Amino acid sequence: MALAVTSSISLSGLIGNLIEVEVDISDGLPSYILLGLPDAALSESRDRVRAALVNSGESWPNKKVTVSLSPAWLPKSGSAFDLPIAITILMAQGRIPKDEPESAIYLGELSLDGQVREVRGVLPAVLSAKKSGFKRALVPLKNYAEARCISGIEVVPVTSLNEAIAYLRGELTPIFPDTSSVAQNDYFLDLCDVAGQVGARKALEIAAIGLHHLLFIGPPGTGKTMLAERIPSILPPLTEDSILEVTAIHSIAGTLLDRDLLSKLPPFVAPHHTTTAPAMIGGGTHAIRPGATSLAHQGVLFIDEAPECARGVLDSLRQPLESGNVTISRAIGSITYPARFMLVLAANPCPCGRFSGRGRSCTCTQIAIRRYRQRLSGPLLDRIDLRVFVDSPSRIELASEELGESSATVRERVIQARKTADERFQDCTWKLNSQIPPSQLRKRFRAERSAMSFLHSELDNERLSARGFHKVLRISWSIADSNGHVIPSRSDVEMAFALREGMELLV
Ligand SMILES: Nc1ncnc2c1ncn2[C@@H]1O[C@H](COP(=O)(O)OP(=O)(O)O)[C@@H](O)[C@H]1O
Ligand SMILES: [Mg+2]
Ligand SMILES: [Zn+2]
Repeated sequence: MALAVTSSISLSGLIGNLIEVEVDISDGLPSYILLGLPDAALSESRDRVRAALVNSGESWPNKKVTVSLSPAWLPKSGSAFDLPIAITILMAQGRIPKDEPESAIYLGELSLDGQVREVRGVLPAVLSAKKSGFKRALVPLKNYAEARCISGIEVVPVTSLNEAIAYLRGELTPIFPDTSSVAQNDYFLDLCDVAGQVGARKALEIAAIGLHHLLFIGPPGTGKTMLAERIPSILPPLTEDSILEVTAIHSIAGTLLDRDLLSKLPPFVAPHHTTTAPAMIGGGTHAIRPGATSLAHQGVLFIDEAPECARGVLDSLRQPLESGNVTISRAIGSITYPARFMLVLAANPCPCGRFSGRGRSCTCTQIAIRRYRQRLSGPLLDRIDLRVFVDSPSRIELASEELGESSATVRERVIQARKTADERFQDCTWKLNSQIPPSQLRKRFRAERSAMSFLHSELDNERLSARGFHKVLRISWSIADSNGHVIPSRSDVEMAFALREGMELLV
């Protein structure tokens, strides 16, 4: 009996499942059977593995080969099992010494000539291998840098099946590439580039403190995109845990190249307005990939020209906005990815784009303007906390040699305000002002008495919805933290109300 076992990892969402790869080679008609709910890409592994073995100078057993991936009930997908299957076949043939199944995991796709190709999701896979007590991971060389982000497990990079064989026979000491330069946290966009826009800058700062969602309305070319792109530069740096989480999502999506490994910088994701709902929230037919909402996890999701989006696409944001994660269901199972982000929408004020507070040459009719703005559905707009009108900077502001405040200065204030909030929420289950639950807003986290009576009168006048009432209170906590007030004052609440209702900023 020729039997061997190795281990690998299959991901569902960010969670790794340990997979045992068993190979049995027995006498009988030459055949190859793959058990354990493989998908199409995995079923094709037979031909890749056979060609890779033969082209690496090994022989394909002319016997009955049975490969079983257990647990059997778990659907498995992708090409990362090529390498473990090939290794296990060689072990079963006695070509390489058998391993303890708990000692190493193997990940990698094989090309027909025996090269080991990169696969997605190596970082979360190696992380869960480490948690399951594995000591070593053999990964494709191209995935080495991300796998090395996990400390406490030896990572061995391999470029070809031959190299893996030589390593396992103890004939090769692997070469560990230098990855010390992976963590770069430079960000080249700075808020000081933006001229004027005092109100919008203030709104950005408050939004960054409480992680409130934001809508910019204004004529084209006034700096809406500029402002949005600079939000990551004023957000506090990611914590150790969130760095790994964010990098893991990008590892699964295959977008690590767009991002420095282990970057402390919150992600900034800006899908085009022609994006489809699956690209926005995640999906796919073969494997369920994270969408823009998950790639923006812990950072900013910016949608420019939001009214041009197909309506279903914007409305698909409502679930992640409410729950902070996305669940995608397909025949092959359902997967949950985290998706807690700051939503920033930008919109022109009217179809021609020239509508402005300064009364320029907008030619649109009232009805056309209203219809255009209605493309942003009420339920979505209701979830936006701050609505800011961004008008063109004046000639004086543009010509001024004095630069605006730098991102570093603003970020320092944001971090200070977050600290205040952190202390206040010490014994609570949430951390940010935008997450205070409604019941607590009524009890513990009310504003000053005169501020509350201002809000009550706005409620009576029907200028504020119930959700709006809670949103205004949450925003006013962020404003209070920014102003160093222990409890939101009447002016904090009035400013929050103005920001929420899109009036001119009262600064
Ligand atoms: N407030 C501003 N300060 C400095 N430059 C600006 C400002 N507003 C616009 N610009 C210039 O105009 C260009 C377009 O700005 P952008 O942010 O794309 O406008 P919008 O998104 O509002 O259409 C910028 O690249 C910049 O050169
Ligand atoms: Mg723009
Ligand atoms: Zn117009």
